[in-house]
Amino acid sequence: MDPKELPANIKDDKISEETKKLISSLPSHTDSQGKNICQYQGCWYYYNTLQGVLNFQRGFQPQDTDIILASYPKSGTTWLKALTVALLERSKSHSSYDDHPLLYDNPHGIVPFLETDQCSSSNLAKFSASRRLLSTHMPLHAMHETLKHSSCKIVYVCRDVKDTLISWWFFGCAVHKIEPTRSLLESMLERFCNGTIFYGPFWEHLLGYWRRSLEDPKHVLFMRYEEMKAEPHEQIKRLADFLGFPFTKQEEDIGVVDKILDLCSLRNLSSLEVNKTGKRNNLNNKDYFRKGEVGDSKNYLTPEMEKKIDMIIQEKLQGSGLKF
Ligand code: A3P
Repeated sequence: MDPKELPANIKDDKISEETKKLISSLPSHTDSQGKNICQYQGCWYYYNTLQGVLNFQRGFQPQDTDIILASYPKSGTTWLKALTVALLERSKSHSSYDDHPLLYDNPHGIVPFLETDQCSSSNLAKFSASRRLLSTHMPLHAMHETLKHSSCKIVYVCRDVKDTLISWWFFGCAVHKIEPTRSLLESMLERFCNGTIFYGPFWEHLLGYWRRSLEDPKHVLFMRYEEMKAEPHEQIKRLADFLGFPFTKQEEDIGVVDKILDLCSLRNLSSLEVNKTGKRNNLNNKDYFRKGEVGDSKNYLTPEMEKKIDMIIQEKLQGSGLKF
C-alpha cells in the first residue's frame, strides 16, 4: 500500500513515520467495528497498539523482580490484577482494608499495560519501588527478545474461549455504545475463528503461554478463570506460592485469604464509586465488570456457532494437552 493512501487511523499522532512505513508493508484489514488492524510477527494489532508493541520491544528494560500479568482480552485480566495487587499489598498494613489502593483506583489504573499505557519509570514506580507489577495482552513470542535474559515471573489467565468471545462482544459494544446485535456477533465469530482479530489468533496466544508454563513452571504460571471461580482459595494460594509470597498459617487462620477474595470479588469491585463512574484512557471502568459467569456463552451462541468454535479448538490445540 502506498503510505499516501493509508487509512485514517494511521494518521494518529502517536504513530511514528517509521511505524507508518512498516504498517504500509503489513497485511491489514478492518475488524467487525470497522477499525484497521494489521498483522505483525503473526499477531493482529490496531495501529496504535502496534506502536506500543514496538516501543516495548525497543525500549523496555526488564528487571528480574518484575511480575507480568498476561492474558488474551476478556479472560479475567481485571480480576487477576486485583488479586495480585491485593496479594502484594498485604505486606503493608491495610489491616482494616479501608485505605486499600483497590478502593480508589481501577485495577487497570494500578497495573499498567506494557504496550498501551506509557510505562514510564514514574508510572512503574507507582505501585512499588521494589517490585513492578505490569500487564500485557501481547502473545509470549512478542516479548521473547526483550525478556530473554530476565527471570521475571509471568502469570497467564486463560478463559473458556466461547465465554471470552461473548464477553468481548458485550465489551466492544459497550465501548462503542452500540447494540450487541446478532450480525456483529456473527462477524466477530468469523474473525475469531480465522484468527484475524485483535491480538489473534487466540490459539497461538494460549499455546505460547501454555507450552512455556510446562517447560518453565518457575517463571510462567498458567491459571484458568473457571478454576479460579470454582476453587478460589486453592487458586489464590497457588498464585501466592508462585509469586514467592505464600500465605502464612497465621494469615490463613485470621481469614486473610477470605478478605482478599471478598475485596476482589466482582460484586465488591463493581460497587465501588471509582469503578461505577471512573474512566481511564477513554474507557469507562464499569465496562470491565459484567456478569463474570462461567458458561454464559450458552445464552447467546447457537449450536452451529458452538460447533464451529469446538472444531477450531480441537484442530488447533490437538496434542498440546490444553483442553476446554
Ligand atoms: P463477562 O463479560 O463474562 O461478565 P477482562 O478483565 O480480561 O477484561 O475480562 C472481563 C471479564 O471478567 C468480564 O466477564 C467481567 O465481568 C469479568 N470480571 C471482571 N472482574 C471480575 C472479578 N472481580 N471476578 C470475576 N470476574 C470478573
